[in-house]
Amino acid sequence: MQKTLPDTPATQLKTWHELESHQKKIAELSIAEHFKNESDRMERYWLEWEDFIVDFSKNRIDKKGLELLLHLAEEAGLKAAIEAQFTGSKINATENRAVLHTALRRLDNQPLLVDGKDVLPEIRGTQEKMYTFCEKVISGTWKGYTGKAISHVVNIGIGGSDLGPAMVVEALAHYENHLDVRFVSNVEGDHHEEVLKGLNPETTLFVIVSKTFTTQETLSNAQSIRAWFLKNAPETAVSKHFVAVSTNTEKTAAFGIAPENTFPMNDWVGGRFSLWSTVGLSICLAVGPEHFEGLLEGAGKMDLHFRETPFEKNIPVILSLLSIWYNNFWGAESEVIVPYTQYLRNLPAYLQQGIMESNGKSIGRDGNPVDYQTGTIIWGASGTNAQHAFFQLIHQGTKLIPADFIAFKKSLKGNTDHQNKLLSNFIAQTEALMNGKTLAEVQKELDSSGMDKAEQERLTPFRVFEGNKPTNTLLIDQLTPASLGALIAMYEHKIFVQGVLWNIYSYDQWGVELGKQLANKVLDDIQGKQNHPHDPSTSKLLSKI
Ligand code: F6P
Repeated sequence: MQKTLPDTPATQLKTWHELESHQKKIAELSIAEHFKNESDRMERYWLEWEDFIVDFSKNRIDKKGLELLLHLAEEAGLKAAIEAQFTGSKINATENRAVLHTALRRLDNQPLLVDGKDVLPEIRGTQEKMYTFCEKVISGTWKGYTGKAISHVVNIGIGGSDLGPAMVVEALAHYENHLDVRFVSNVEGDHHEEVLKGLNPETTLFVIVSKTFTTQETLSNAQSIRAWFLKNAPETAVSKHFVAVSTNTEKTAAFGIAPENTFPMNDWVGGRFSLWSTVGLSICLAVGPEHFEGLLEGAGKMDLHFRETPFEKNIPVILSLLSIWYNNFWGAESEVIVPYTQYLRNLPAYLQQGIMESNGKSIGRDGNPVDYQTGTIIWGASGTNAQHAFFQLIHQGTKLIPADFIAFKKSLKGNTDHQNKLLSNFIAQTEALMNGKTLAEVQKELDSSGMDKAEQERLTPFRVFEGNKPTNTLLIDQLTPASLGALIAMYEHKIFVQGVLWNIYSYDQWGVELGKQLANKVLDDIQGKQNHPHDPSTSKLLSKI
């Protein structure tokens, strides 16, 4: 296996130990105290780039801690690793592949060689094919088998072939055209039946998305939906209603998809990083090529920022380092992501795959088990809904949960009253999380309520908020295809930086294979084709099905 990235375990980096000592030194200092100690905190812990503001001042970090984290990044060889990724080095060494989702949103056409071949012309050609197809469908030039225009699109895919497109289509609902774009992912038959409800085969287009074209869920759904379609339509109609996105053009052909209806993708695009490729076909259908290009452009600009900006001003680098700080030096187990917009309610679910499938690894790049924590557990929901669901635990629970708060200054539809209320909650929560409510404040409040003394004393401890809960605030001008592209790319780069520093391979996913293999075996058992030996628990469960 070719060594394309350094392979020093994180705990063998000198700065790692300095960070351990430093954390002990400042562990008792609250964020509020850091503010008192550092008069320049609002300059040092504040980043502005394009229409993004990142305020990371509300963190349990001081000047020295930040310097050490930045030094850790240098020591781990991050700069060279970033270049290795962008220039097509095979940094996905366990699959012997380059990692080039960034090539799909390149703002220029400078040659980019993979195995000696410039991939840019092919990327542009495929994008053109996709845009031409989408324009035909959107304009109604593309006709279904009875001559009617397409009104509905169903994306059939799972994991990276579903989560990204589904999240973006929902996020960009404000920009969508007349096409109704739906998603079928789960192998559960009821799921596709629900999605197909009310659909007319004459006016529906099915987009089968599978990088490998071997995924059980997607192929089962595609077969069943094809059978549903053929109940009404003749076999010759399939080419007008089924298209495919895959690297495996042999298998798409075997499924009966014509080459002209097959949109290729490359093996150097990982499934969970693929919405920028032809996997984004459903996005492009929903919002049109112009907005799809906007998405790519925003991501492309974030790529440049990440590649060219010194680490201390580099948004993805700073966010990654803070995440490592809590994960590895404060024992935080999870991170919460709270976008203050319903449009991004699926962002946490999308990032769960990106972050947890990428960095949920325990073997270092040197082939040995790591002796430190890697991937963070990601969860979240949209604000303000989340405030009425799980915020209690963040405010007064026992766990340390660093949070990303994301909001857009301007709403899309212009309702200022609601936007002000939304943003006031957004700002108030991070303030409350940091400052909490002291004993003295609670006593004063209860005193002025006229409550009797004994009752006051009984209730006081429950009303105290410890505060000191870390947050990053991301304030973006408006939710546009470009700002969304930049936001997603920002998190992608955060994943990469963490993988480099944790000395793990972020771009494979061997951990999901075992379950897939066993599911096939168990299916044989359920269908009575075989009787595989199982452990007692599994056997008893199988006997009940
Ligand atoms: O869950 C594992 C996985 O391989 C993901 O990485 C991928 O996004 C998903 O399955 C779907 O794979 P495919 O696009 O090949 O159907």
